[in-house]
Amino acid sequence: MKLSSYLKDRAIANGLPAMAYTDEEFWLRECETVFADNWVFVGFAHELKNLGDVLPISVAGKPILLVKNRNGNIVAFHNVCRHRCLKLVDQPKNVGKLIRCPYHAWTYDLDGNLRASPHFGGMNNHKPSGFIPSNNGLEPVRIKVWHDWIFVNLSKKAPPFEKYAATLIKQLEGVNLEKVYPVATLEFGEIFTNWKFLIENFIEPYHVQFVHKKTTSQPLKDHYTIVDGMCYGSGVNLSKEDASSGNLSVSSRYLSLFPNFIVGTYFPGQLGVYLNQPIGSGRTNQKRIIYTTDGHDLTKAEIENQKNLWWKVHKEDHEICERLQLGRASPVSIQGGLLSPHWEKSVRAFQKIVVKSVMKYSKVK
Ligand code: FES
Ligand SMILES: [Fe+2]
Repeated sequence: MKLSSYLKDRAIANGLPAMAYTDEEFWLRECETVFADNWVFVGFAHELKNLGDVLPISVAGKPILLVKNRNGNIVAFHNVCRHRCLKLVDQPKNVGKLIRCPYHAWTYDLDGNLRASPHFGGMNNHKPSGFIPSNNGLEPVRIKVWHDWIFVNLSKKAPPFEKYAATLIKQLEGVNLEKVYPVATLEFGEIFTNWKFLIENFIEPYHVQFVHKKTTSQPLKDHYTIVDGMCYGSGVNLSKEDASSGNLSVSSRYLSLFPNFIVGTYFPGQLGVYLNQPIGSGRTNQKRIIYTTDGHDLTKAEIENQKNLWWKVHKEDHEICERLQLGRASPVSIQGGLLSPHWEKSVRAFQKIVVKSVMKYSKVK
């Protein structure tokens, strides 16, 4: 079946074909489209605290470097030396004022300007004729730091971030994002599933009462779905909130901004953002930051409680997402299974954007 046929509206729609989750070629197409043309979520600003902090990341398989520059701004570059294109920085660290390539000591400042190219033209000739250092600085990457969240747009073609994310920003009205404060980090490492399964699982409420029956008290009947342009997800309004229990039993919203930004708001005053960093067709790194909002304080015991709760909830989801991936080895999954016309509307909306993005590539049929 042609990928374009998945865009046709039907009473009961299929999910994406299995190959969209397993095929390396499809993943490479996503790298050239989904993860190039959009604002991709890549990290947390609070993790680059000091001037000279650098954080190497991978976006669509490409090495990118985040740098806290001398003005205190976070900037992004392609993480390769302009001499022989060595991957310049291989681990998070503080470089002081200069980034020095380990191979032949070409040196860049924190704004990417080339400051030294020792003996490039021969002994003690650092600038041979025809070589223009100002043309050989680190290649910048378009970046937007929105509150604590860092996004990059590799192709530079995405609309300005505020326009791109307008529907998410509208959905989050009422949450004072100026006052988000990170209180805990959960590093899940590598999950053996395609990145799309983690997004799809987060934005549909259908599974909650079954998969999370021990960790949440959010009845299915109280849930609704949200589809709003590049933002989609679900929400639940409870008449009785219980923020103190070991279970998640508070009104919540589960939102995603295409392609991979995920934010959950949990009444009262808690926010969770998680980073799903795809590293191939069947593997994704995941990390969650727990925030308080509006100056809402959590005691150490409450933070521990929340960490334990969220760790369990994520593990429950990981098991499901890894089994979704394993199911794609079956010929039964070629057509993608079925989506609930009610509970999985947000999944359908997300999948349609994926298909529209990758269809720009003529090789994908
Ligand atoms: S590759 Fe970086 S200085 Fe030669
Ligand atoms: Fe879940």
